[in-house]
Amino acid sequence: MNDIVAPDSAVHISVISGTNRAGSQTLRLSQHIAGLLRGLPGVQASVIDLQDLPEGLLAPTAYATKPPGFAAFSDAVLRSDGLLVVTPEYNGGMPGVLKVFIDLLPFPVAFERRPVAFVGVSSGRWGALRPVEQLQGVFGYRNAFMFPDRVFIPGVGGELDAQGAPTSPLIAGLLNKQAADFSSFCRLIRPLRPGA
Ligand SMILES: Cc1cc2nc3c(=O)[nH]c(=O)nc-3n(C[C@H](O)[C@H](O)[C@H](O)COP(=O)(O)O)c2cc1C
Repeated sequence: MNDIVAPDSAVHISVISGTNRAGSQTLRLSQHIAGLLRGLPGVQASVIDLQDLPEGLLAPTAYATKPPGFAAFSDAVLRSDGLLVVTPEYNGGMPGVLKVFIDLLPFPVAFERRPVAFVGVSSGRWGALRPVEQLQGVFGYRNAFMFPDRVFIPGVGGELDAQGAPTSPLIAGLLNKQAADFSSFCRLIRPLRPGA
């Protein structure tokens, strides 16, 4: 069950970096977005980095008996007032590791009435539209509160500086607005969440 929090306490948002690929653009951008969120009044943010997942997630027994170390990941999700998923596009869809992560989180509490927002990145032209829409189907099925404003970044290799910040004012503006509006959305939804 989600922690019960006072209405005026800080909103905590977890940014899920949706791949475990070493050196991913997704992680760099996720860290930048977490920094944007932390810069907003009354907002705390941290990154869930799938590179740090424990071994054993693909074992047939992992659904029933989670590998040691997985609890830290599920606890981070359960403590969150909102999830901001940054996904790359791999073979026209979300990375397999992101779906495995989702499938191992506790049902139904992980996503039930939990706000979720999406950012897509790809080297190709479509900015991960396909995986974001797949994820919207998954999170919709799981009764998450979907934040409507998505951000897509095509050609991501040429769009981020060394710190993972966008170089284009257009993308910077979209990410800033999404961060500010999503944190307000999370604050508004919090009283409607289970356990509130
Ligand atoms: C296994 C794999 C599959 C990929 N498939 C696609 C794809 O279908 N479409 C696309 O535009 N880019 C694809 N890419 C390139 C990614 O969009 C690119 O690596 C980008 O930087 C975002 O992924 P990253 O976070 O791993 O860096 C693929 C990359 C990998 C590693």
